[in-house]
Amino acid sequence: MNENPLLEVSGLRKVFRAGSEDLTVLDDVSLMVKVGSTVVISGESGSGKSTLLHLIGGLDTPTAGRILFQGLEITGLAEAELVEYRNRRLGFIFQLHYLLKDFTALENVYMPAAIAGSPGAEARRRAARLLEQVGLAGRRTHYPQELSGGERQRVAVARALMNDPQLILADEPTGSLDERSSAQIRDLLFGLVAEYRKTMILVTHSRELAAAGGERLLLEHGLLRRA
Ligand SMILES: Nc1ncnc2c1ncn2[C@@H]1O[C@H](COP(=O)(O)OP(=O)(O)OP(=O)(O)O)[C@@H](O)[C@H]1O
Ligand SMILES: [Mg+2]
Repeated sequence: MNENPLLEVSGLRKVFRAGSEDLTVLDDVSLMVKVGSTVVISGESGSGKSTLLHLIGGLDTPTAGRILFQGLEITGLAEAELVEYRNRRLGFIFQLHYLLKDFTALENVYMPAAIAGSPGAEARRRAARLLEQVGLAGRRTHYPQELSGGERQRVAVARALMNDPQLILADEPTGSLDERSSAQIRDLLFGLVAEYRKTMILVTHSRELAAAGGERLLLEHGLLRRA
């Protein structure tokens, strides 16, 4: 790990308007994530964990505040730049895998490279190696519906690493799995993040997952503080 901040969030605020009511989900959130670190954010259901990740991932825009990624203000990016930011710099893992059902496991892992316009033999080799690293070398040509929930999530982990992202955003990555599969995904994710020296922000309400490592923070009443 080094001392350089990869991500700096300051004064982040998100208010949802639901009918005539305003719902302040994030009140004043500040966060600094150093290169190579893992930050684990827990908080009750509805505390705004996914909302925060969506903002950092450029999937939604804040009501106020700044998000700087390597000094670049992502809240000011145009849609095309945001697409590139998400595709090149970020790796997403969600509670539900969001694999494309008409593509095989290998093709799903490879997809971010195809979207980035960097397909080819090298990318295919990398996808195959990632699939092997998540223990699915024998399932390359299988479609998502032919895989178990845990296996699908492993494909999603491999896919998140495909474009060698600088930041992995993991939202409840074991949320839909049983205890055993959850433990496997947790070990796999933390193992690969360490091996590839990735920076990760992981949000979860699972105590087991939150205890897996990294700096622990708690999101509560729209504020983020040390857990
Ligand atoms: N698009 C939206 N419009 C209105 N309210 C929203 C919207 N998205 C989220 N919310 C509200 O914001 C609050 C925080 O939601 P969020 O999904 O961020 O919580 P969470 O911490 O991820 O919860 P969980 O642990 O259940 O996933 C909730 O009360 C939710 O209803
Ligand atoms: Mg959520």
